[in-house]
Formats: sequence, structure tokens, C-alpha cells
Amino acid sequence: MSDSTFYVTTPIYYVNDAPHIGHGYTTVMGDIITRWHRQRGEKVWYTTGTDEHGEKVLRKAQANGVTPQEWVDKLVEEEWKPLLKTIDAANDQFTRTTDPRHLEGAQAFWTALNERGAVYRGEFSGYYSVGAEEFVGDDDVIDGEGDDEGHKISKLDGSRVELISEENYFFRLSDYQQKLLDFYDANPLFIQPESARNEVISFVSRGLRDLSISRSTFDWGIPVPWDPKHIFYVWIEALLSYATSVGYGDDRERFDEVWPASIHLVGKDIARFHAVIWPAMLMAAGEEVPHRVFAHGWLLVGGQKMSKSKANGIRPDEIVDTFGSDAYRYYFARALTFGSDGSISWEDIHARYHAELANGFGNLASRVAAMIGKYFDGVLPAAGGRTEAEAKVIDTVAAAVRDADAAIEAVAPQDALAAIWRIVDELNGYITEQAPWKVAKDESGRDRLATILQTAAEGLRALAVLLNPVMPKASAALWEALGAEAALGALADQRIDAVAGWDQLPAGTTITKPASLFPRIETVAE
Ligand code: MSP
Repeated sequence: MSDSTFYVTTPIYYVNDAPHIGHGYTTVMGDIITRWHRQRGEKVWYTTGTDEHGEKVLRKAQANGVTPQEWVDKLVEEEWKPLLKTIDAANDQFTRTTDPRHLEGAQAFWTALNERGAVYRGEFSGYYSVGAEEFVGDDDVIDGEGDDEGHKISKLDGSRVELISEENYFFRLSDYQQKLLDFYDANPLFIQPESARNEVISFVSRGLRDLSISRSTFDWGIPVPWDPKHIFYVWIEALLSYATSVGYGDDRERFDEVWPASIHLVGKDIARFHAVIWPAMLMAAGEEVPHRVFAHGWLLVGGQKMSKSKANGIRPDEIVDTFGSDAYRYYFARALTFGSDGSISWEDIHARYHAELANGFGNLASRVAAMIGKYFDGVLPAAGGRTEAEAKVIDTVAAAVRDADAAIEAVAPQDALAAIWRIVDELNGYITEQAPWKVAKDESGRDRLATILQTAAEGLRALAVLLNPVMPKASAALWEALGAEAALGALADQRIDAVAGWDQLPAGTTITKPASLFPRIETVAE
């Protein structure tokens, strides 16, 4: 196995407001992917954080009558950090762009680029979208309609733009048009999925203008070191947080150990920044470009993109308070195709919770444990002779492990869960067909009964390991019920590639009935 670090990032989120489930979505998917890679035995680093500068945040603070620093400090502590607990994220790091380490790293980066001649001073006169924190070219601006009547809007994302005119510093982004096109060509997996890749290639093919990298009409940002009347344009320092958070600017050794990033997970709205501006910046600085940018789709509520401004923004804890963090994580990973837009609804969460988690998985675990309790006093028996039915269970587990692992590699958590669920379905079918309660009626079936329940227990062991990245709490409860820790060690130390090995739980292990993993939920909120 290579010594390199599997380094995954989420976008750093704007702290103009509290998080909604769109933000929770990216963070949960990254968490599932990184937990899986940890269980492959890889060195992993998972960063998330907050993007605190820029005009959007500044205006929000002003509207609330506080300084921007007070605003971000309060929101980060009261909303953004607690979100990670709510959704049970095991990030290694939380980066804030107001952190002095980030400030110094970002300044060092641009000072170096300035010294290399990649930056020049000029006048910017054109459109800016505060909503997207983006300079928008004249040919991407159109007249708004409906609610936007009388305003100019950006064709890129539909946000309103404002005409600004100010003195700026520019980065020679136009020098990188051909270099980027060549790079995409040589690295077909750099920007995924295909739809995002096509969009980025067509955007770059239309021509790149030099990019304004500073603002001089307000001061909520990182000062440009060689001309402190300017602050850096928020995106060109925010992107740098991926590097400054792993040592860029203050710990070269650490940076070299972790960089380049393995995957930047982003929503499709910001794929352009990550796949165009960011690699060009890194190329200009002579640093390595990330391996992949993966752009996921929108969460749709009632057919519309969910967002705070549309007032259809749902807070993660509204769902977690009712269904728990495991079900929350499971739902978003299973019900949507990562990379495409997908509709979510309370009814769908409720239905899947009961059908797949409570009845499918939870019930399986409690039935098997209860039967070992009833027929073997809670002591795992040794298996007797195996039949084709057991061979099928064992094969199903082996195939599911392979397919799930390949799916995570392909950044498709929904396919990984579909593969793992073949084990749940196989075990439920196996128990129905083998009907251990009938076999138990006759003392001569004792050996057969032992084989059936040992096979089911081994299947549950495999499920606890495979589901740990997705549902850590239920998996821990199951691991404990299986008495697995004593013989096999901590759940987090179980390796994915060892899951399919059979007869791991030793005969004689004490099995207890887990507390209901997914208790029925009677009330449905409107
Ligand atoms: N601050 C920038 C990112 C800088 S990264 C160097 C930003 N922040 S944001 O708060 O607007 O967060 C955007 C991210 O939140 C999206 O890219 C996506 O990951 C997530 N989502 C926000 N709304 C979403 C949906 N409705 N659906 C899915 N994800 C969404 O852009």
C-alpha cells in the first residue's frame, strides 16, 4: 500500500447563516468515504471548515448590527461546529479562514506569485455577484425576469450581479487556458462526473480572462501584503485553505506529506472555481494539482433546489432529532445518486427508515441475537456441516465487499450501500428459508440449528464492519451485541479486505440482544 495520505476536503462553508442539510450532505458523504478508506487501513486526512471573509458575510453582519468578526465567531461556535456532532462527522480538522495560520499562508502564496510576475495591477470595471462572490463577464450577464425584473443576473447561476468599478490586482489566468485544457485531456478523472467535466471544458474553451484577485472597496478580508489598501478576493484565499490547513506556509514537511488532495468534494455550483482557478493557481506556484474534484448535485425539496434564501432550507437537526444521525447518514447516502440532483422528502425518509433500517437490518440483528439467546443460552455455537445455502451467504458477502469497495473508489456511496444491502436481503431470505425455529423443534436438528445461527451471526459481523462508515452508532451497538471486541478487537480496526474471511467470531462468544437499533417512529411531522 502506498504511503501517501488519502486527503479529502469539503468546501469551506460561508458563515453568512446557519447550516442546512445541503451543507450537511457534502460533509456526510465525505465522512462516509473517509471512514471507509480508514477501514481499508489507509492514512487518511479529512478537513472541513468555514469561509468567513467576503462581502456576503460582511453585509450579513452589518444587517445584524455586529462586526463581521463577532458574527462569524458566534455562528462558527453555535452552529457550524455543533453541526459536525449532529451528523456524527469524524473530520480530522476544522479550518477557519480567519485563523492567523491561514492568513499567513495565503499571503505567502500570493507574495510568491507576485514575485514571479503572475500578478499585475489594473482597473476592474464590470459585474460582480455578491451571492456567488464571483466576477461575471459581460457576456454571462442577462436581464432578470419575474422576481429579478429590473436587475441584471448571472447566466452562470442565476444570481443578481452589481456593476462595480475599482482598482484591483489581477492574476494572469488567461495564460492557463491551454495548459488547463491539456491537463483535463491528460487527466480524464480530474473533474467528475462527466457532466461537470463537460461544463468545465466548455467554460475554459470559451476563453479565460485574467482574474481579479483583490477588492479595495471594503476591508473584510486578508490584506494584500504589498499593498494593504487591498484585501484578497475571497475565493482566491478560500481555495488556499485546502493547502494552508495541511501546512502550506508554515510546515513544508507536513504539506509534502499530505499534498496533493485526493478528492475535493464540492457542489456543482462551485466546480468551476475548483477545476479552473484552483489548478491554475497551483500550476503558477509550481505546486501539485489535486487528483480529483468531484461535483455532486442539488438536494431538491418539492422539486426546487433547497436553499436558505428560498426558505425551504431544512436544518440537519430537524431530521436527526427524529431519526437519529445514523439514519440521516444512511438516507442521504442511499436515496440519492452522488453526482446528480435528487429529491428528498420527510415521507421518503420515514418510509426508508422503517422498511430498510428498522425492518430490514435492525430486525435481522435482533432476531438472530434473540434466537442464539433462546436456543444456545446466548453462546455462539460452532457451525456443523455447511450446505449450498451457507455457501450462498458466504459468496454473497464476498461479492458485496468487492462491489462496495469498488463503488467507494468510484465515489458512488449509493452503490456501495446497494451492494451491502444484498447481504441484508440474503440473510433475511436465508433465515426465512432455513426456518431455525422449525429446526429447533427436534433435538436431532441441533447441529443444523448451530450452523444456521453461526452463519447468520457471521453475516452480521460482516454487516457491522461494512456499515460502520455509514452508521457508526448502530454498528458499534451490533459489534457489542456480537461480543466481537474481545476476540477481534475494536470495530474501527477491522479491515474491509478481511471482512469476507469466514468463522471469525469464535465459538463460545457471548451474544446479547442489542437494544433496538432503529426503534419505530410513530409521529410524522408535516
Ligand atoms: N464558501 C464557498 C466554498 C469555498 S471552498 C474553497 C461556498 N460556500 S457555501 O456555503 O455556499 O457552500 C456551498 C456548498 O454547500 C456547495 O458546494 C455544496 O457542497 C453545499 N450545498 C449548498 N446547498 C446545497 C443543496 N441544495 N444541495 C446540495 N448541496 C448544497 O460556496
